[in-house]
Amino acid sequence: MASTKGKLIHEMVPSKERDPPHSKVTIVGVGQVGMAAAISVLLRDLADELALVDVVEDRLKGEMMDLLHGSLFLKTAKIVADKDYSVTAGSRLVVVTAGARQQEGESRLNLVQRNVNIFKFIIPNIVKYSPNCILLVVSNPVDILTYVAWKLSGLPKHRVIGSGCNLDSARFRYLMSERLGVNSASCHGWIIGEHGDSSVPVWSGVNVAGVGLQSLNPDIGTPKDGEDWKSVHKQVVDSAYEVIKLKGYTSWAIGLSVADLAESILKNLRRVHPVSTHCKGQHGVHDDVFLSLPCVLGSEGITDIINQTLKKEEEAQVQKSAETLWNVQKELTF
Ligand SMILES: *[C@@H]1O[C@H](CO)[C@@H](O)[C@H](O)[C@H]1NC(C)=O
Repeated sequence: MASTKGKLIHEMVPSKERDPPHSKVTIVGVGQVGMAAAISVLLRDLADELALVDVVEDRLKGEMMDLLHGSLFLKTAKIVADKDYSVTAGSRLVVVTAGARQQEGESRLNLVQRNVNIFKFIIPNIVKYSPNCILLVVSNPVDILTYVAWKLSGLPKHRVIGSGCNLDSARFRYLMSERLGVNSASCHGWIIGEHGDSSVPVWSGVNVAGVGLQSLNPDIGTPKDGEDWKSVHKQVVDSAYEVIKLKGYTSWAIGLSVADLAESILKNLRRVHPVSTHCKGQHGVHDDVFLSLPCVLGSEGITDIINQTLKKEEEAQVQKSAETLWNVQKELTF
């Protein structure tokens, strides 16, 4: 007796012979950031398959089921989840959001070493099942962990990317748009260097429609500026702390910014984003460190780095961040 399904459907191509996914995305870590990235990727129709991985199995299964129940409203037909990395096989893009959080009184170096130990498990498993993937590291401290992921993965440097200052720059452009009353998309400004406290705003490049704000206000970004544009960068630096104080974590903006990077990669758009890349040889950096610079993103990952015209003091800031990072990195044990 044929089943209802057997009577309804005549199979032309056996399921085993059907095409593998073309734009599979894996997200490692189903915390607030991982799930915000997941929903952003899903709503922008970027993936034909989404895989989720975490060590907390109940949470992982719950998140998968909750997304699957929304299948009718999505255009990503397959959503899978498991703590076993075989579920990630054949991914084009793997987003790593997993990692330990800083505990009260814990040193940064100690946190980094704890995350290195977590990455020692995660990264080889990713590469085992998706040897041709692009790795996008979001976990913090992102610049150091991108270096760690590069070292552990054995992947070429153009395929290991840190989300870096992509969100810092988006926050800057939002705050600039609030001041000017012009949409963020038309407010251009780049935050580069280390993600977080020591990020570098490139005031010389801040513009709307090609009109440099520095040409209108030569003191912009300096303490002499009567309009205190410098505080816009300070707000960018403080914004994560402020949001965490208010809601406990940040998630939506980082999730949306991850999806924006995913779009450039999966659709080979060759747009320029401020992301963390191996920047030895750029702007006088001599160490094996990852810092954010404007990078062209496409299906191979970072194909090019844009050589920005920086002021002496901006270059000095980038070099100082590089030194700080290297001093932490050289103490790490793999
Ligand atoms: C970037 O451009 C500057 C000139 O603006 C040049 O001196 C420098 O060598 C360039 N850097 C690279 C890596 O080509």
